[in-house]
Amino acid sequence: MDRPTPDPARLRRSYEGGELLEAQVPADPFALFGAWFADVVAAGLTEPNAMVLATASADGVPSARTVLLKGYGPGGFRFFTNLTSDKARDLAANPRAALVFPWHGMHRQVRVVGRVEPLTHAENAAYFGTRPHGSQLGAWASHQSAVIAGREELEARYAELAARWPDPAEANPAADAKPAGGTEPAGGTEPTGGTEPTGGAAPAGAAKPAGGVEPAAGAALAGGAEPAGAASSGGEGGVPLPDFWGGYAVIPESVEFWQGRPDRLHDRLRYRRERTGWVLERLAP
Ligand SMILES: Cc1cc2nc3c(=O)[nH]c(=O)nc-3n(C[C@H](O)[C@H](O)[C@H](O)COP(=O)(O)O)c2cc1C
Repeated sequence: MDRPTPDPARLRRSYEGGELLEAQVPADPFALFGAWFADVVAAGLTEPNAMVLATASADGVPSARTVLLKGYGPGGFRFFTNLTSDKARDLAANPRAALVFPWHGMHRQVRVVGRVEPLTHAENAAYFGTRPHGSQLGAWASHQSAVIAGREELEARYAELAARWPDPAEANPAADAKPAGGTEPAGGTEPTGGTEPTGGAAPAGAAKPAGGVEPAAGAALAGGAEPAGAASSGGEGGVPLPDFWGGYAVIPESVEFWQGRPDRLHDRLRYRRERTGWVLERLAP
């Protein structure tokens, strides 16, 4: 408490090295997203698939929180959550959202705005089945965003569920395919993988169309990104998919890529969806 508090107004950094030029970028924002995502994974940024999801309630009250990207492509940017949470209530009333990927370690940001659609039961079940056992129980244990009396309530509920659906890997250690740290907080922190860091060596802003965009998105959703074996929980005797848990896709109307440059002359390129396809525009920084 005795440490001096830094003055945020005096914190300054010049963003050197990166550039994002029209001549470098693909016609499709998902290809550029894939290239940048590969870059940030290769650069070792913390939680590269963490994104800020902003929603607004029926009466226009905004709220924002971090969720994890679990797939992307022309079908949208996908995440999973509790369907009784505040965000789900917002989305039921107002199915539009904004996303921000805050990739500060590379002086980059991606912003997405679009309409939101729930994923199908089959998609939810497929992804839920890939989650570690502890995360599956965690999904059941938490009535996300409800006020609770204390942590004990959550842990007691988890213990009840763990007794009801024991971890098959513990009953049969030979089958233990659970990754370390399986008791992660709600929302999961499992690796996204799926997207091989193919673009890592590319110079910042070199928007190499990532051939891996579709497979990456598909892999994440089909479970290819998760440790093999975790999917068994979805099978006979495993943890069933809660009917209050599932995913959404944010289907973009616009995707803006921001690359920090010196003297605050940053590059901003925005893809805007028109009936004929994507229109690319440069925005003043
Ligand atoms: C790094 C990180 C990743 C998270 N990932 C998720 C996620 O994928 N899904 C989720 O429901 N909540 C996730 N959370 C928790 C949310 O930020 C939030 O607390 C929760 O979803 C409740 O939000 P709501 O009350 O606005 O619905 C994550 C939080 C952090 C910090």
